[in-house]
Amino acid sequence: MDGNGRWAQLRARPRVEGHREGSRAVRRIVRSARRLGLRALTLYAFSEQNWARPEEEVDTLMLLLRDFLLSERDELLDNGIRLNAVGNLARLPGVVRAVLDPLRRDSESSSEMTLTLALSYGGREEIATAARELAADVASGKIKPEDVTERALHGRMPSLRVGDPDLVIRTGGERRISNFLLYGLAYAELHFADVLWPDFAEADLYAAVASYQSRERRFGLVGKPAVPSDGAPVLRLVG
Ligand code: FPP
Repeated sequence: MDGNGRWAQLRARPRVEGHREGSRAVRRIVRSARRLGLRALTLYAFSEQNWARPEEEVDTLMLLLRDFLLSERDELLDNGIRLNAVGNLARLPGVVRAVLDPLRRDSESSSEMTLTLALSYGGREEIATAARELAADVASGKIKPEDVTERALHGRMPSLRVGDPDLVIRTGGERRISNFLLYGLAYAELHFADVLWPDFAEADLYAAVASYQSRERRFGLVGKPAVPSDGAPVLRLVG
């Protein structure tokens, strides 16, 4: 969700105003995703590297996150949306954990869509954590070195419990991944939108999904395009 800072800068307003508008876009896009019938949406809301931003910006982002979780709680639950979070959650302040943890628990059985917030998240960090866990299992004799397979690593990645990402959308005009979902990205389709995140509208999400639908996914094979990784039916957009 890139471009909050530039959105504010263009209006000669403080960066935090961009994040405030960005969190309105989050509300909008979560609703749109649910309406579209997406089964999983993962939002890169705060990277492990973002802690190094100015204190005022970090504090504002944490408060916006808490406000989002508080204000959307009922709507998420009413619409069958499971709220999850991945990343180094132990680093999050108590005010966020106090609303995040109960909502994760209370929405556990919701099954229409999973909304995952990547918080204090880093793709390399996630791979390192998974490798460390498997190394500990080898050291204790629970598994053998040859059990450290691609699947075993995959199974230790909390961000991939919803499946590998089919489509990754980056807003804000940059063409890079910035440490997001690195392991799961192997066969993801990438979509770069030039619109700044606070301006990202339902129509932009539709355009991204339509672009995804026009791609031929081969997963390293030849011939007929394969179905998405979770076998879900491809979405048909109307109107
Ligand atoms: C990157 O834009 C954006 C972030 C680091 C924060 C994203 C946070 C939100 C959209 C709002 C809060 C989140 C939720 C889930 C309610 P940037 O600041 O790097 O923009 P720039 O590249 O234009 O400076």
